[in-house]
Amino acid sequence: MRPSSIGVVGCGLMGSGIAEVCARAGYQVKVREVSDELLARGLASIQKSLGKAVARGKASQDQAEQAMARITGTLQLSEFSDCDLAIEAAIENMNIKKEIFAELDRILPPHAILASNTSSLCITEMASVTGRGEKVLGIHFFNPVPVMPLLEFVRTILTSEDTMRAAHEFGASLGKTMVTAKDTPGFIVNRLLIPYLLDAVQVYENGLATKEDIDAAIKLGLNHPMGPLTLLDFVGLDTCLFIADAMYNEYKDSRYAAPPLLRRMVLAGHMGRKSGRGFYDYS
Ligand code: 3HC
Repeated sequence: MRPSSIGVVGCGLMGSGIAEVCARAGYQVKVREVSDELLARGLASIQKSLGKAVARGKASQDQAEQAMARITGTLQLSEFSDCDLAIEAAIENMNIKKEIFAELDRILPPHAILASNTSSLCITEMASVTGRGEKVLGIHFFNPVPVMPLLEFVRTILTSEDTMRAAHEFGASLGKTMVTAKDTPGFIVNRLLIPYLLDAVQVYENGLATKEDIDAAIKLGLNHPMGPLTLLDFVGLDTCLFIADAMYNEYKDSRYAAPPLLRRMVLAGHMGRKSGRGFYDYS
């Protein structure tokens, strides 16, 4: 089943990217935010990214305008009543996600699929507050959503084969490459990425090398697009800490234990690019 109308919950960094790629693939998209201000900011960032796609020759001006016209902003989840697929990209708070899932379960038509873009939280727990566990899965996008080619599906022990088939058709229609993971903290990408990022903070904290040299070593020695400390700033130190804590809570394995410096930088408000300062200064 190819969905025709998609609802995206949240129009922050990830939600706006998800709304944009869905609209560019031809879907009608409704995107819900919690205030007029956040909605306006999210829609403006979609407009800006579409402008960048045009400037880079990835879309024509006409295609960008048509994509924008397919996106409707709203403050009401009740407007998702005709959506075939809803993708939750709200803040990483399980109680809030469960409230959203329970509400969407009441609002969405019975055939609709319900997905979360969570980076690490338990999809089965979100499914447990709905009456449609077989139609719930994780669809994890990567930042920047219009550029990163991967979609990570998270299949719970409840998710049906039909739901996985529909998710694959949807992912293919976005032009993404798909992988599937079991519902375990961190899935595939963050399970491997987070210990690497935590190690980078630890070796920096221990004085192995300067931050510039750590980043240059990985960027140029391994041909990564970014060194680990630059990537931490890009993803957000608070986001990395949140994922690390979620993984540590579940596995109780020291590989996921956040180094003291990371926690202190977050407490000091040094979240990375979004706050203007992380390992590097963006002011
Ligand atoms: N729409 C469409 N295409 C766009 C675009 C847009 N809005 N903006 C840029 N592009 C295209 C460009 O045209 C270019 O395409 P080309 O290679 O065919 O010419 C490509 O995207 C790269 O764009 P830029 O030249 O602007 O950017 P850089 O080359 O400097 O790369 C980067 C920027 C893509 C961010 C790169 O540094 C990178 O890949 N960094 C690592 C990002 C990463 O690891 N992300 C995952 C984070 S983990 C995560 O998200 C999971 C979460 O759970 C934590």
